[in-house]
Amino acid sequence: MLLEMHDICKDYPQGREVVKILKNVELTIDEGDYLAIMGPSGSGKTTLMNLIGCLDVPTSGTYMLNGEDISKASENHLADVRNSTLGFVFQSFYLLPKLSARENVALPLLYAGVKKRQRLRRADEALKMVGLGERLDFMPNQLSGGQQQRVAIARAMINHPKLLLADEPTGALDSASGRQVMDLFDELNANGATIVLITHEPKVGARAKRLRRILDGVLLPEEGGGADGEA
Ligand SMILES: Nc1ncnc2c1ncn2[C@@H]1O[C@H](COP(=O)(O)OP(=O)(O)O)[C@@H](O)[C@H]1O
Ligand SMILES: [Mg+2]
Repeated sequence: MLLEMHDICKDYPQGREVVKILKNVELTIDEGDYLAIMGPSGSGKTTLMNLIGCLDVPTSGTYMLNGEDISKASENHLADVRNSTLGFVFQSFYLLPKLSARENVALPLLYAGVKKRQRLRRADEALKMVGLGERLDFMPNQLSGGQQQRVAIARAMINHPKLLLADEPTGALDSASGRQVMDLFDELNANGATIVLITHEPKVGARAKRLRRILDGVLLPEEGGGADGEA
């Protein structure tokens, strides 16, 4: 088991009140899984993604990731776990505009202390893997939205994360580019990557191997006989 969330709740203060945003979430993910979490706007998807992604800690409950209880980890430790274990893809690609595609992709390796030649070699390999081997020196503004998202995916995968997290990765793309990005996720998963994808689009959610719906902060049991939530 790569990830196990048990009885996870997240509250946020809103004005003078405390509002329950996530309610008693049960979630398990194995290595090699490809899970979509689907729900309407405001249902708590990003809040859940932030917890899974160690960007925030739960109000209560336990979260085991890669064999470690990180429910109450410090900020510093969460940052270490993010860097060593997780890759992120967001709706807006967050590429650095003054760096080329290969420099953007190589950036996580700089933080990991990898030497420059090695960094660029690995970045070039990652860009070839996402079909952008002909665009290594292009700047982000010379690339289409779909190409920029593929650069962001190459960057997320460069450290071989245990888990790739994608929050609305096709949300800013036209449907053809969105399909290309989803094809790429299929390929990464077929090659062993574990993926959690968050979306409000049924067409996108339907492409994952597992589907969990979230409604009003409640993560519903898996459809089609999954064990989650039935314990
Ligand atoms: N930092 C925050 N402080 C207070 N309320 C928040 C915060 N983040 C999210 N919320 C609230 O939590 C709910 C779920 O938000 P979010 O997880 O972003 O939903 P989704 O990603 O599904 O659209 C919303 O009602 C939102 O207003
Ligand atoms: Mg969101």
